[in-house]
Amino acid sequence: AGGGSDKIDYVFKVVLVGDSAVGKSQILARFARNEFALDSKATIGVEFQTRTLVIQHKSVKTQIWDTAGQERCRFIYSALSPATYPLSTITFESWMANSSDLAMDRLSWRYRAVTSAYYRGAVGALLVYDITRRQSFDHIPRWLEELRSHSDRNVVIMLVGNKSDLEDQRDVTKDEALEFAQKENLFFLETSALKATNIENAFQTVLTEIF
Ligand code: GTP
Ligand code: MG
Repeated sequence: AGGGSDKIDYVFKVVLVGDSAVGKSQILARFARNEFALDSKATIGVEFQTRTLVIQHKSVKTQIWDTAGQERCRFIYSALSPATYPLSTITFESWMANSSDLAMDRLSWRYRAVTSAYYRGAVGALLVYDITRRQSFDHIPRWLEELRSHSDRNVVIMLVGNKSDLEDQRDVTKDEALEFAQKENLFFLETSALKATNIENAFQTVLTEIF
């Protein structure tokens, strides 16, 4: 490849899914910018970053979408107009205190609209849990169900057990995660956004499979 080789052959959308604080945003920061922050704040709304890779001599631009794993954040932003939600300071509690049944109906409608927009067109997904937090693994079947019900059935899914650097606090074994992944036909890797372990590998595997 010489000059003028910066043409894009493919654009792929990949989504990050999983509970709050499992490390989705830091996985993205590591992959897109090779950065990491220990004091990462919970994501509000939807963010995305891109990175272009060469796979089998083709230039593949990957758009990675990241959203809040926190149910309350999802409620907050889906209750508001998409144009204003990132700036909102309305709390879940105050919103709930003032909401009527009608508002609840509108909320659930908006929740579904935002959710389907998030997944629309995704060809790959990283389904992330935290190996030190059992609950985040126990919620994986729910996230998988949401993902499968909103995306194309050929979507390539990688189950990711993040924070592998915290081996001494491990609460989910590799074997049980692998067993679940095999049963559900998912790829599986343990990663560390902190130590940059398997982050490239996770995205490369998904992108190569999509390819
Ligand atoms: P929401 O935006 O609320 O859905 O959370 P998130 O999944 O985006 O989590 P985030 O990336 O903000 O990370 C949560 C916390 O875990 C932060 O303090 C990160 O620094 C920390 N963290 C993320 N990845 C790792 C990792 O690989 N190892 C360790 N030790 N900490 C990590
Ligand atoms: Mg986040």
